Amino acid sequence: MERTYVMIKPDGVQRNLIGQIVSRFEQKGFKLVAGKLVTLSKETAETHYGEHREKPFFNELVTFITSGPVFAMVWEGEQVVKISRHLIGATNPAEATPGSIRGDYAIQVGMNVIHGSDSTESADREIGIFFSEEELSTYEKNT
Ligand code: CMP
Repeated sequence: MERTYVMIKPDGVQRNLIGQIVSRFEQKGFKLVAGKLVTLSKETAETHYGEHREKPFFNELVTFITSGPVFAMVWEGEQVVKISRHLIGATNPAEATPGSIRGDYAIQVGMNVIHGSDSTESADREIGIFFSEEELSTYEKNT
């Protein structure tokens, strides 16, 4: 079954949005297989966002994502990568559709509340950065 990596960023944690965001994924029908509150080291942040290393906002991005705890999660389900991207909304909240998480809760492109993997390959890589195999739970979920 397909899995994706989703991370509520420090602004989302500080604004008490964890419960509402987790609810949206649960209500959609996805299965939570891992979740933890963690403060990223600079090294982990730079690895996670490695593809943006040359971008002008890279340092700002690393500073922000390490500024407080994130809520790191793995969600499982059919087409979970693509559907999660729709639930999350466009990277720039100014373009995110109302009803999406960023459309409802965010204003700035940097502090945009949540991250979700953009492909199954990214999901595998990102899950591997944040979780060990033992942290990924297997259980039956009621639908
Ligand atoms: P995310 O989905 O976590 O992936 C990369 C992040 O870079 C993105 O969300 C944005 O939060 C951030 N980002 C993209 N463009 C900018 C920008 N122009 N300024 C600051 N941060 C940005």
